[in-house]
Amino acid sequence: MSITVTPTHPEFVAGISGIDLAQPLHQTDRDAIEAAINRYAVVVFHDQTLTDDQQIAFARHFGPIHSSAQRARHKSIKHRLVSDEIADISNLDGDNKVMDQTARRRLDGLANRLWHTDASFRAVPGALSMLYAHVVPEEGGDTEFADLRAAYDALPDARKAEIDGLVAEHSIWHSRGQLDVTKYSPEELASLPPVPQRVVRTHPGSRRKTLYIASHASHIVGMPVPDGRLLLLDLIEHATQSRFVHAHRWRRGDLVIWDNRCTMHRARPFDTTKVRDLRRVTTRDVASTLEQAA
Ligand code: OGA
Ligand code: MN
Repeated sequence: MSITVTPTHPEFVAGISGIDLAQPLHQTDRDAIEAAINRYAVVVFHDQTLTDDQQIAFARHFGPIHSSAQRARHKSIKHRLVSDEIADISNLDGDNKVMDQTARRRLDGLANRLWHTDASFRAVPGALSMLYAHVVPEEGGDTEFADLRAAYDALPDARKAEIDGLVAEHSIWHSRGQLDVTKYSPEELASLPPVPQRVVRTHPGSRRKTLYIASHASHIVGMPVPDGRLLLLDLIEHATQSRFVHAHRWRRGDLVIWDNRCTMHRARPFDTTKVRDLRRVTTRDVASTLEQAA
């Protein structure tokens, strides 16, 4: 049986049905899923039952996986999930208890509420993120997505010319810093130094031009910091107008794939005394955006 792709929004986001992702993946289905991602940028599968290992195995069909092994972060805390290839996007601690308000990992995770794209702060950034819902709260906790291709297309020509060729500096510490989450050790800071990324790139799968921006971006290389920051804030404001945004309301068993190369996303608030257990695997892009087509 082959998959069915059903668009959700005029510009992006599609539902995919007719496939059990826990089973071995056939090449034709893999290619059809990839084609849907290239077209829709965000795809949603409902009613899946995946172990962490199955989620990782599925993701591996789409590229090498970003591992957190070399990070100096969080070395001292007990982790809930074993593999370095899966990120714990939950509000649970190492003992499966809802984290208290001041828990370090909770404060770090709050930066997911800012518009961003995953791992743009790494030299080789994230390509596809695959987030799977184990437990979701009854209310709140949606994830919102913004289509950065449509946002780029809608820019006035003068603006397109102005941002052509610009490079932004991205750092995980910049996004955390916006929320005053700043108490990092010298080892942590050194493990993820700022990196340059293009502000406009061409998506390799669709050949569409797209913005590549995030709350991780602090300034524009070669421009006074305040001017570059204001430009980035303007671009984020433009790209997150409601006409470019879709909110995903989670159901247990959803697997959502988004393409970090041409979208931003953010988590929305929920009652943090309730459990929200999502887990993410992200594939690596092929190179820094500076080494890819502009
Ligand atoms: C992520 C992320 C958003 C959410 O997993 O990268 O930003 O809604 N998650 O949890
Ligand atoms: Mn994210």
